[in-house]
Amino acid sequence: MQKITLKESDLVLILTGAGISAESGIRTFRDSDGLWENHRIEDVATPEGFQKNPSLVWKFYKERYTHALEVNPNPGHYALAELEKRMPNRFLLVTQNVDGLHSRAGSKQVIEMHGTLHTCFCTRCKQKQKMNNIDLSQDIPICSACGKALRPDIVWFGEMPYRMDEIYHGLDKATVFITIGTSGNVYPAAYFITQAQRRGVRTIGINKDKPENIEYIDEFYQGKAGEILPELFS
Ligand code: OAD
Repeated sequence: MQKITLKESDLVLILTGAGISAESGIRTFRDSDGLWENHRIEDVATPEGFQKNPSLVWKFYKERYTHALEVNPNPGHYALAELEKRMPNRFLLVTQNVDGLHSRAGSKQVIEMHGTLHTCFCTRCKQKQKMNNIDLSQDIPICSACGKALRPDIVWFGEMPYRMDEIYHGLDKATVFITIGTSGNVYPAAYFITQAQRRGVRTIGINKDKPENIEYIDEFYQGKAGEILPELFS
């Protein structure tokens, strides 16, 4: 297996997607035919869906949260945590995943641009609360500060992903961009690689299947992240 060699001066920005968590037992989106665990995206991943049926949406995310607690990081997550240890100030990990597995594997510089299953926030006062402090037996959990409905801390379709300023700042400085386990068709994340390549940044892709944006990838490694990442960065 070829190895990815990084220079002492490199600044690395990594973008991960559902594929990196597949080997932990979390299904990817594209594997579910445009559905998310048998639900239509517009029912469970849009503000309109939540307005229409908040208890269904809460039931869905409680299940996702419980499942995320039941699974474990895999060698792919651990390989990225190890890589960060070797280059602590030259590394930024941006994930579209909401499962929290990168942090559980030990990654520190992580931006969860689509939010997280592990917190929720109040629809009125916006105060964030940890899911493990919430009474999940309630149909629609209520904010302890103001009594209004809480909602999952997930960036739904039509909403602005989190920490975009930091991501664009990281993209401006990066010398290497690595995309892992993402189909490259949900924006704005799918656009990062275009920007990187336009700046002349070295672009690397690791994916089970060829992603939509393969034309922007300089070096492509096809395979399962959990199998090839520990080898690639050793
Ligand atoms: P997708 O389900 O679209 O794509 C997963 C990608 O991972 C595919 O290209 C697979 O080939 C690849 N893959 C599967 N198993 C793999 C493995 N073991 N190792 C490496 N690659 C593997 O997931 P995302 O690209 O993450 O948004 O989807 C992006 C966004 O679309 C999600 O964050 C979500 C969704 O709708 C929101 O919820 C806002």
